[in-house]
Amino acid sequence: MYEDLKLPPLEYKVDEVPKILTDIPGPKAKKYIEIANKYNARSTREIPVVARRAKNAVVEDVDGNLFIDMAAAIAVANVGHNNPYVVERIKRALDTMINFAAHDFYTVGIALLAQKLSELAPINADYAKVFFVNSGTESVEAGIKIARHNRGPYFIAFYRAFHGRTMGSLSLTCSKPVHRKTFYSTMPGVRHAPYPDPYRNPRHEENPEEVGKLAIEFIEDYILGHAVDPEEVAAIVFEPVQGEGGYIVPPKSFFEGLERLRKDYGILLFDDEVQAGMGRTGKRFAIEHFGLRPDIMTLAKALGGGAPIGATIIRPDLDFKGDGYHSSTFGGNNLAVLAALGVIDYMKEHNLPERAAKLGEKVMKRLKEAQEEIELIGDVRGLGLMIGVDLVKDRKTKAYATEERDKVILNALKRGVIFLPCGKSVVRIAPPLTIEEELLMKGVEILIEEIKKVDKERKK
Ligand SMILES: Cc1ncc(COP(=O)(O)O)c(C=O)c1O
Repeated sequence: MYEDLKLPPLEYKVDEVPKILTDIPGPKAKKYIEIANKYNARSTREIPVVARRAKNAVVEDVDGNLFIDMAAAIAVANVGHNNPYVVERIKRALDTMINFAAHDFYTVGIALLAQKLSELAPINADYAKVFFVNSGTESVEAGIKIARHNRGPYFIAFYRAFHGRTMGSLSLTCSKPVHRKTFYSTMPGVRHAPYPDPYRNPRHEENPEEVGKLAIEFIEDYILGHAVDPEEVAAIVFEPVQGEGGYIVPPKSFFEGLERLRKDYGILLFDDEVQAGMGRTGKRFAIEHFGLRPDIMTLAKALGGGAPIGATIIRPDLDFKGDGYHSSTFGGNNLAVLAALGVIDYMKEHNLPERAAKLGEKVMKRLKEAQEEIELIGDVRGLGLMIGVDLVKDRKTKAYATEERDKVILNALKRGVIFLPCGKSVVRIAPPLTIEEELLMKGVEILIEEIKKVDKERKK
C-alpha cells in the first residue's frame, strides 16, 4: 500500500481534467476508507475522496481519478497545491532545520515573517506584533487571551460565525448546534448578535446598509444597554466575510458602526481572517474592502500554503505584559514559517489578490446569469474567489434547499469537481487563486449543469 506514498509529483494536461475512471469512491479508495474509518476517530469527513497527489487546482485520488479542486482544501491552497515557492522553502527547511522551539529561543524565520506580516497587515497602529501558532483555532485562542489580558471578561461574537473548535474559540463559534452538542460549559462571557446578512436577516430588511445598522443597534441597545457593561467587553470578534456560516458579505455600514463602538467604548475589534484572508477576496486581507483597521487579526489556513501555521497579529501596545503568559511548542515552526514566507513572496510577485478579483468577477457574472434561469438558485454572493451559491426551495420564503445542495455537490463530485458546502444550503466556491481559468470555468459550468438537473428533478 505504501506505493501510493512513493509517487513522483503529479503532472496533468488541463484539457484532460477532470478525468473520472471509476465510481467515486473507486475500488482502492473504498479500501482506504474502510481502514481510515476503523482507525481514525470521527470528524467532519463526508466526501469520499482519498487524495494521494495534488498540484495547483488538480487533485488525484488513489484510483487515478483527477478532480478540479474548487474548495482549495478548505481555502488553504490559495497559491495552489504544492506551489513551487512553498516546496522550495520547505525543502530548504528540511535541509537545514525543521524546527527549533521558536517561542523559547529565536529563529531567523520568526523574525523575518513577523516583520513581513507587520508590514502587510492593516492593524490600527503604526506597526504590528505577531504571535505564531499552528492553526486557526489556536490563533483565535491567542487573540482571546490578548483581549482579556488587556480588557474585561466579555466577548461579542455573531450568529453563524465560525472561529474554531477548541473550548475558547468554540464559545465564539455559532454556526451549527452540532459544534457545541455535548460539550456544554464552553468559555463563559460570550454574547452573540445577528450578523448583518443582507439576504437572510431577522427583520427581513432588504436594504443591505440598513441591515448593517440594525446589527450595530442590536449590539449597542440589547447587549451593551441591557446585558454587559461596555467597559467589561474585551472585544467584538467578527469574520469580515462569514465563511462556514454561508459566505456572507456584510455591508459597509456594519464596519462603520464597529468603528464607532470602538471609539465610544474602547472595545477592541478582532478580525478573524483565517478563511477570508491571504488574497482570497481579491484584496490581501478581506477587511481592506471595508476600510477598517482592526486591533487584533488572525490568520491561518492559506498562510502556510499547506503547512500548518497560524498567526495572531496585534497592536503592539496590546502585547502580553511579561514572559510566560502564553506560548506554543510548535508555534513558529521553521518548516511552516519558511513555507509562509514562500506564500507571501509568491502572492506578491504574481499579484494574486488582483487575479482573484478578476476571476471572481467572471464567475459571479456567469452564476448571476444562471440564477436568472434556475429557480433553485436563491442568491449568488461573494468577493473575489470567495463565492457562495445559496439554494432555496422557494425564492419567496428562502427556505433552505439543504438536500438539493448536498445532491448537487455529490453529483458534481462524480463528474470530477470538488465543492464543499457551507451554511445550510450554500455551495462554496473557493478554488486556488492560481487555478487555470479554463479549469475554473469548467468547474463552474459543471456546477450550473448539476443545479439545473436537481432543479428539474424536484419539479417532476
Ligand atoms: C474564520 C475561521 N476561523 C477559525 C477557523 C479554525 O481554523 P482551524 O480549523 O485551522 O482550527 C476557521 C476554519 O474553518 C475559520 O474559517
